Amino acid sequence: MNITRREALQLGLMGGGSLLLSQGFPMSASASEVLSHQIERFKQPFRPPPVLTPKRSYEGGKRPLDVYEITMQKASVQLAPDLEPTEIWGYNGVTPGPIIRQRGGFRGEDKGRSSLVRFINKLGSTIENGEEVPIETTVHLHGMASLPQYDGYAEDLTPPDHFKDYYYPNDRAATIWYHDHAIDKTARNVYMGLAGMYIVEDEEERRLNLPKGDYDVPLILQDVRLARDNSLLFNDRRQLSQYGDIILVNGVPWPYMKVARRKYRFRVLNASTSRTFQLILSQKKDGLTTQDWLHVIATDCGLMEKPVKVGLDFSSRDRPPRVLQIWPAERYEFVIDFSQYPSGSQLYLQNPALQFSGNIDSDIRVRTLMRFDIEQGGVDDSDLPDKLRDFEPLVDKIQPGEDPPIRQFVFGRGLDWTINGKTWSTERVDANPEPGAIEVWELINRGGGWIHPVHIHFADWQILDRNGRPPIAYERGWKDVFRVGHFETVRVIAEFGRRNGDYIKGKFMFHCHNLVHEDHSMMTQFEIGEGGPDPFADPPKPISEMRSL
Ligand code: C2O
Ligand code: CU
Repeated sequence: MNITRREALQLGLMGGGSLLLSQGFPMSASASEVLSHQIERFKQPFRPPPVLTPKRSYEGGKRPLDVYEITMQKASVQLAPDLEPTEIWGYNGVTPGPIIRQRGGFRGEDKGRSSLVRFINKLGSTIENGEEVPIETTVHLHGMASLPQYDGYAEDLTPPDHFKDYYYPNDRAATIWYHDHAIDKTARNVYMGLAGMYIVEDEEERRLNLPKGDYDVPLILQDVRLARDNSLLFNDRRQLSQYGDIILVNGVPWPYMKVARRKYRFRVLNASTSRTFQLILSQKKDGLTTQDWLHVIATDCGLMEKPVKVGLDFSSRDRPPRVLQIWPAERYEFVIDFSQYPSGSQLYLQNPALQFSGNIDSDIRVRTLMRFDIEQGGVDDSDLPDKLRDFEPLVDKIQPGEDPPIRQFVFGRGLDWTINGKTWSTERVDANPEPGAIEVWELINRGGGWIHPVHIHFADWQILDRNGRPPIAYERGWKDVFRVGHFETVRVIAEFGRRNGDYIKGKFMFHCHNLVHEDHSMMTQFEIGEGGPDPFADPPKPISEMRSL
């Protein structure tokens, strides 16, 4: 449905210049930049990243194990047919990296498996301030409760021509991702391409009969900027943030995707350095339409209790969320039902500035991400159930008279980006929860112009409230990244155990996932219990010592 003039006024889309234009900040492009206008939008076909198959599998033992191998290496990609190639750093030389799909869960019926991923660093060196420096890596599987030595500790660095084997338990079903986490270099390394999706499924989820196979589609969103020689241009504006003017969906600028008239499940990951997206579906390329729904079914750590509709609707009183905000490192999953549109029609995944986005932007071309071209046919044997799974609020697990510990963390700016006024140190631990404890953490932003998407490793959390008010409808699931807005206190709750009943001990990081802030020290660590494995307990080895697995 098209928006009426009155509705447009309500949205602030008209009068005094449209909101879509007025929120852009003027930005001075440096002489070495080209603008994204050389790349035509909706000209290149959508593609999912390749899926990685195990090199080997071991079926015996307590839990079957799949062995994967990924070589980190440089490669060149062509971002548009008439552009010279661009150098990227990729897992297996592609960006985003190959997708790992695993069966997880610890119940017998889940047929859960473990993974061992060997990451080999063949990235060599790069030039920094006129000097040749080695590219060192560490790999974090974001959303997995790994042991400290396999969690991508920022200083557990793998130098070039070294490798490290990482073990992953695949404890529960969720859309998660692996990315570089090298101390001070995470933003650069991820921006250069070191990011990929990792999907865990279990039996409970499979039984729901959500769209699967070709209809279960990853959407990895990133923004980049090119220099005149087509190299990726990294400009963090004096350690504030990095924004690109080219939108990549699975590494392709503004793709079009042919879809059948049926339901699809999309797994969205914001793998950008700093950019937030506000997702909404629209029948128009440069405007918004109503009642085009994203049915959100999952948050960072798996399925929600029930789907949440997101879109514009002026017809009813209880308005659903208008956009799905997705901050760096967040994952959401949604279903789109294309059967309600005639074949031959088109839909756009838009990113309008309907809410404060925190982005510093000048290019309105980032306001549209991709196009769906609806084709003939499509048998649909999938379901979108009203109830997806049980969701037990963690507060209900707290015994009367046993108040959980409450900790406060202020995300701010001193000489550098800080947490409780401090910068990163391997020597210091800023929280020490007991194994198995339930704790409430208050994440605080006292203003100052920046919003911080805070990520806490290891645990799955629930948001209790934002400044005392309930979280947005689509945030009411298990999460590991939390937007902490201006003058906002976000209270989150977690249990520091693991789903198979193990109590893991050890040190884990937490930080802002605006990667520029993270690299400039908005990061610290907590330690569960005492005497857990050291994050440096399984150091990388030279390739000359590599035995086949
Ligand atoms: Cu996705 Cu500590 O990071
Ligand atoms: Cu931040």
